[in-house]
This record gives sequence, C-alpha cells and structure tokens, in this order.
Amino acid sequence: MLEARFCVAPMMDWTDRHCRVFHRLMTRRARLYTEMLTTGAILYGDRARLLGFDASEHPVALQLGGSEARDLAVAAKIGEDFGYDEINLNVGCPSDRVRDGRFGACLMAEPALVAEGVAAMKRAVSIPVTVKCRIGIDDQDPETALDELARGVVAAGADALIVHARKAWLNGLSPKENRDIPPLDYDRVYRLKAAMPDVPVIINGGIAGLAEARAHLEHVDGVMLGRAAYQEPWRLLSADPELFGEAAPHAAMKDVLAAMIPYIERELAGGTRLHSIARHFVGAYHGVPGARAFRRHLAENGVKPGAGINVLREAMALVEDRAAVPIAA
Ligand SMILES: Cc1cc2nc3c(=O)[nH]c(=O)nc-3n(C[C@H](O)[C@H](O)[C@H](O)COP(=O)(O)O)c2cc1C
Repeated sequence: MLEARFCVAPMMDWTDRHCRVFHRLMTRRARLYTEMLTTGAILYGDRARLLGFDASEHPVALQLGGSEARDLAVAAKIGEDFGYDEINLNVGCPSDRVRDGRFGACLMAEPALVAEGVAAMKRAVSIPVTVKCRIGIDDQDPETALDELARGVVAAGADALIVHARKAWLNGLSPKENRDIPPLDYDRVYRLKAAMPDVPVIINGGIAGLAEARAHLEHVDGVMLGRAAYQEPWRLLSADPELFGEAAPHAAMKDVLAAMIPYIERELAGGTRLHSIARHFVGAYHGVPGARAFRRHLAENGVKPGAGINVLREAMALVEDRAAVPIAA
C-alpha cells in the first residue's frame, strides 16, 4: 500500500522546489507534492526548469493537469525518468483556465475519460499513479459522483485517492472561494474508504493541525494538509513525532533555517534570487519574540537586488535564540 499517512498538498506558486526542500527539513515522513504542471508544459516546455528537484525532497510526487490519455502517459513517463516517486492527476482544480483546457475539477463529470488517462499512465510507468479529486461538482450528487470516479480510476489501476472533501462549484466562484465556500463533508470521504477498504484514501480540506489530522486517521489512511502546512510551517516540526512516533529532523525552526543555508548558497550561486526561497519562510515563526521583526527584515531586504545569505542570517538573529517550537494543536 502507498505510504501516504501524511502529505503536504500540491499548491500552485507555493509548493515549488525551494518550498519542498524547506518542508523536508521539518519532516522526513511527509509525502510532498509539486505544483500542478500541465501535460502541455511538460511535453513542450523547459523540462529541466519545470521538473528539476533536489534529491532531499523524496518522497515527492509530480502532479499533472491534463485529460488526453496519450499526453498524460508521456508526461508521466518523463516524470518517472526525472525520479519522481508518484504521479498524481489533478481532478480538483476549479479555475477557468484549467476548465477551458478540459482538466481539473470539471473532469469529475467525465469519469470514463479520467479512468482512460489513469490506465494510460499505469501502462507507461511503474511508480504509483494517484488521483486528487473533489467529492463532486456543481449539482452532482456526491454519493454517486465520487463513487463513479473512484471505481473507474481504481479499476484502471490508481494506487490511491486523495479527496478534497468539498464540492467545486464551477459557475461563479473563484478558485480561492472554491477552497472555502462549498461545505466540507468529511463523512463522505469516510464512507468512500469504508466502501473501498483496500484502496488507500487520503483526506484533504480544512485540516488545521495535527490533532485534527490524527482524528481523521481513525477513518482514512492518510491526511493531506495544504494551507495550514504552508502558512504555518512550524506545524510540520511536530508531524514526525505526533504521527509517526519519530524524532523531528530538527529541534527548532532556527536549526531548520540554518540547515537551509548550504542549499540557499548553492542556489544563489546558480542565479536564484534570495526572495524566491525566503518568501516561503514568512510563516516560519509563530508566537515567539522577534517573529514579526524576522518577517519584516526578510520582506524589506530579501527582495533587494543581489540580496545575499546575510539577509537571512540577520533576520534569524532577530528571533529569540533556540525558541522552543510550539506544539501544534
Ligand atoms: C495557493 C494554492 C494553490 C493550489 N494549487 C493547487 C494545485 O496546483 N493542485 C491541486 O490539486 N490543488 C491545489 N490547491 C488546493 C490544495 O491542494 C488543497 O486541496 C486545498 O487548499 C484544501 O486543503 P487545505 O484546506 O488543507 O488548504 C491549491 C491551494 C492553494 C491555497
């Protein structure tokens, strides 16, 4: 069975490779996901830039957006060859741009097409292929819509299902509203798991911290945190101890940031701007003296042309040394 007890969600513009390296320094056990990449970008774009990642990121999944079976198969194979540990298909993104391309959440209405895509990817790769979906869209009945999608993709060979436990409403809501307004229905995801006991089911949506995550794990195989993990990354330091009974990779956020420095120096030498990496540290500190000064120093100085590693060191010096990591609630 796919090991996915704890996952950090795919998030466009957020879970880029720098972010994932940062997250990995806080939890060895989380399964990490890339931002969604369209099959078109992978087939015709700058693959090294789009798909390159750091060896420390494993296990890391590549999320694809697309619906054409042949393209999905080729993109999945390229992902496997780059070293990704899993290919995940996006059947949950509600943006107009995505819908025009006939992929993302609108595919909830085309379960046969999704199953075809999964079957094609399974034939093309030997790593796990998973699907991330909603419980339904618009006026679909989640009881039938989710079952139909799930049964189709599992029959096609999907190795796990990740379910964002709310509908997407494709008419009238922005993507952001679609992450908050349609009501959460965790029970629907629990029922899916009960109906498919052999299929790993990972629940997502509105999970605020690790206590909640533990409660969900009574019903499903895995939890996926999105915004809570990104905006309050300090929570990730409690993931290995609380969910796996293992020590965290580092005792405190200062140690995590210190461990980022060699990576950042390598990246700066290769032409990456400090801000591209340090922007992911905005929520690093929470409720400790100096947290605001840390944020402000990075925001004001990290964006300056030629900003170097000293900006991060100065920001770190503003936070009380060895501040205890708050235990995630
Ligand atoms: C900024 C942002 C970008 C996102 N981009 C993606 C994406 O590329 N692919 C995807 O499947 N979901 C995407 N999502 C949705 C998340 O993966 C997740 O399903 C959603 O945020 C609900 O989980 P949460 O309440 O834990 O944040 C995005 C969410 C956010 C906040």
